[in-house]
Amino acid sequence: MTKLGINIDHVATLRQARRETFPDPLKAALACVQGGCDGITVHLREDRRHIQDEDVRRLKEALSVPFNLEMATSDEIIAIARQVKPSWTCLVPEKREELTTEGGLNLKGQPKRLAETITKLHQAGIRVSLFIEPDAKTMSLAKDVGSDAVELHTGAYARAFLRGGSELKEEMSRIQSSAAEATRLGLIVNAGHGIDYDNVERLMECADFHEFNIGFAIVARAVFVGLETAVREMKKKIARTLCAGS
Ligand code: PXP
Repeated sequence: MTKLGINIDHVATLRQARRETFPDPLKAALACVQGGCDGITVHLREDRRHIQDEDVRRLKEALSVPFNLEMATSDEIIAIARQVKPSWTCLVPEKREELTTEGGLNLKGQPKRLAETITKLHQAGIRVSLFIEPDAKTMSLAKDVGSDAVELHTGAYARAFLRGGSELKEEMSRIQSSAAEATRLGLIVNAGHGIDYDNVERLMECADFHEFNIGFAIVARAVFVGLETAVREMKKKIARTLCAGS
């Protein structure tokens, strides 16, 4: 069964909008666990626009499910990760002006830096995933730098889903071939970005994913039904799609 990791950054975004002490990302994470999620993700950005260092430490202390820290390959954040020791880190590109992580990592441009970062994280007992575009040719680069997993960026898929037709077919085929190649190389295959209650079913036709990382759609749904129910609804959708396909 494809696991469901929840990204709770947007709970912290709401808190930081008023520089308040609530809503508390830890309480949100516990509600997600109550709803049946399989992991919690936060992105500690260099500009600290949502998640703060203290959130990361509290989550690591309190969580009973795997904790995944999204991060850029900056020395400061690597040092924090090595101290906190989440189960996983997901290395992402980071631009200060972006609204969210807009594209995958450029593996060709920085193999040495990535390999060094991964070694440092491995030495601290942390497993590493790379957030990359679904391009089958680059999966071997992820393997070469020592990654344990890839998280395929599904932003383009989510946009293509709305347009349908040949654009959607092309995106699905890119994801399919990338996932197949990554699996062949022995990498764990996750997916994330822009996944929602409508597009998750078609996405599951592309591959047998290990985990989806979903943030915005679930936190947005939670405004109406609460986090626990929003998570439960997505879990049901994933389970139902798997049953229908088997
Ligand atoms: N995975 C990664 C690596 C991300 O950067 C994000 C966005 O923070 C997500 C998953 C979740 O994307 P969304 O919020 O669109 O579900």
